[in-house]
Amino acid sequence: MPTDPGARRAEGAAVPALALRGVSKRYGATTALEGIDLEIAEGEIMGLLGHNGAGKTTLMSLVAGLLRPDTGKIEIHGVPTDRDPRRARRDLGLAPQELGVYPPLTVRQNLRFCAELAGLRGQRARVRAEEVAEPFGLTALLDRRVSGLSGGEQRRVHTAMALLHRPKLVLLDEPTAGVDVETRARLIAYVKELADDGTAVCYSTHYLPEVEALEASVAVLDHGRLIARGTLPELVRSHADSAVELTFHGGVPPLHLPWPVTHDEDGVLRVHVEQPQLATADVLAALGESARLLVNMRVVQPSLESAFLRLTGSGAPDRRPPASPAPSPVPSPAPSAPRTAAPAPGAPANTAPARGARAIGGPDEPPGEDDHGPLARDLEAEQHG
Ligand SMILES: Nc1ncnc2c1ncn2[C@@H]1O[C@H](COP(=O)(O)OP(=O)(O)OP(=O)(O)O)[C@@H](O)[C@H]1O
Ligand SMILES: [Mg+2]
Repeated sequence: MPTDPGARRAEGAAVPALALRGVSKRYGATTALEGIDLEIAEGEIMGLLGHNGAGKTTLMSLVAGLLRPDTGKIEIHGVPTDRDPRRARRDLGLAPQELGVYPPLTVRQNLRFCAELAGLRGQRARVRAEEVAEPFGLTALLDRRVSGLSGGEQRRVHTAMALLHRPKLVLLDEPTAGVDVETRARLIAYVKELADDGTAVCYSTHYLPEVEALEASVAVLDHGRLIARGTLPELVRSHADSAVELTFHGGVPPLHLPWPVTHDEDGVLRVHVEQPQLATADVLAALGESARLLVNMRVVQPSLESAFLRLTGSGAPDRRPPASPAPSPVPSPAPSAPRTAAPAPGAPANTAPARGARAIGGPDEPPGEDDHGPLARDLEAEQHG
């Protein structure tokens, strides 16, 4: 990569910070990634979304050189990683999903050690360690041993360690797993600053509001395939659901509504309308006598969450608090139909399940395998001795 800014401009801003072309990766019989074509521009934050096992960590590990793709090419700032791996990854910082801190060392020593590994020496390494500590709220912890820090504090150290050498491509794999609200807000602000300075950031998370706060573009992986890529407004516009949700006393009564409807497994009826805030009066009027059985009515605005759920075809995003036990199933007057299918006027409501339609994980994965990911296992091990 050229170090002279003039040379970089001459090469053209069109060279992406990261490009994957037809990248596939298998682990034995498991296809972790399949034909991924993806680019991240300089200064872009890309939220990498997908359920557990979708392939996010595998993608980052391939980019960082921890794994080799079975097929396809990866280029970092235009440099193919197979041709010149050291040069390609010189300006790359990875904070993996699995914690990689040195517990017997202090925070300062961890940071300095990483700074030195990245080629910074003496005063520069010292100063840089303190600079990076600040946005992560680590300044007061610099001389504490990492073994004595909480899980969230350790993750802050771990993420800061990836940024010491001011990498121009940063891969953050679930950097906010287990951290508190304030740290999350600080991290988000810092990542935005990095992007404003031209750093490209690949940021995986299960917390969709973070992607909105980052004003990131979005890539959605599903069972190893890239199923959506675009800006937030594009994804929401193209894929998000908007609806009026209705809950009735004693279950959903027989209804004849002129809009597509779906039931979720909690017995909530979703009436799919555009501009739901404007449609509530019409929906209420269409309920007729059944309106008296209504116990709750909720407007569902199009959002990234509903776009994600629709794209991945499943109900609950991973790592949500456990749902309350489902009530008895809603009677199914008609066979299941696609949730977007409009019933003929006067026909009974469709009953395609909107939630829990597909289990997390692919059909070829044994149940329970790697349900929690390495991070959860690490934190659990730390917490329980
Ligand atoms: N070392 C491995 N050996 C065998 N299979 C693996 C290995 N690592 C990952 N896998 C499988 O590859 C697929 C992708 O896993 P990956 O860790 O990339 O998913 P992820 O999107 O990061 O998930 P999570 O949200 O749980 O972190 C999964 O099916 C997983 O079980
Ligand atoms: Mg992962």
